[in-house]
Amino acid sequence: MNSKILPQHVAIIMDGNGRWAKQHKFNRVKGHEKGSETVRMIVRTCRQLGIKVLTLYAFSTENWQRSKIEVTGLMHLLNKFLLSEQQEMLDQGIRLNVIGQIERLPMNVKKTLAQTMSVTSHNTAMLLNLALSYGSRAEIVTMTQKIATKVQSQEIQADAINEATVSEHLYTCGMPDPDLLIRTSGEMRISNFLLWQIAYAEIFITKTLWPDFTKAEFIEILETYQKRDRRFGGRKNT
Ligand code: FPP
Repeated sequence: MNSKILPQHVAIIMDGNGRWAKQHKFNRVKGHEKGSETVRMIVRTCRQLGIKVLTLYAFSTENWQRSKIEVTGLMHLLNKFLLSEQQEMLDQGIRLNVIGQIERLPMNVKKTLAQTMSVTSHNTAMLLNLALSYGSRAEIVTMTQKIATKVQSQEIQADAINEATVSEHLYTCGMPDPDLLIRTSGEMRISNFLLWQIAYAEIFITKTLWPDFTKAEFIEILETYQKRDRRFGGRKNT
């Protein structure tokens, strides 16, 4: 694989944990537990390869509608994952960031997130961006409110608003847009994920369920990505 044309930012919609659990006659939380092992593998692989930003869609605003058992199970897993991976993040120079409506998360998860973000804040080798209680439309509404407030206080002139202004007021402020978007389990949907940011992302959808997703398949996708001709609607990617 050519390390020169690696995507800078990979975003993943991790789908299929529930179907994996059903196939194996387990409960849904067990599927998420197996899925968190794939998360560990993918974070390590991205770090080894030198990918700079990895964004994982771990919990959407719509996911709050799932059963209490599933939501509690997912929050517990998340907390456990952060605590168990903290040392490795420190050793590997990985910075943790969260995008989404963090205020809606349980207190223990908020605390662990804040603590992990704080201790990893000086790391620069890779950014692990967890989308939690995340919805792209809600993010766009928040961005609009922030810009409107600045227009009202005359910090920004309305006719000076441009694409950069919008990007700077999204949760992903300062990050490059995703070059590559992967969705597992075969659904052909974006599901309210990074709608503004994926304007020019290359999209790969695999039928593999997230708990079955392997390093080999990830590398295969990266190799296919490298063969694609990215023109950005006219401009040649150099
Ligand atoms: C989608 O599968 C997956 C989720 C809603 C949660 C993703 C969470 C993890 C991979 C584990 C915990 C996360 C971290 C960062 C440790 P689904 O339940 O919608 O699957 P289905 O469509 O087959 O029912």
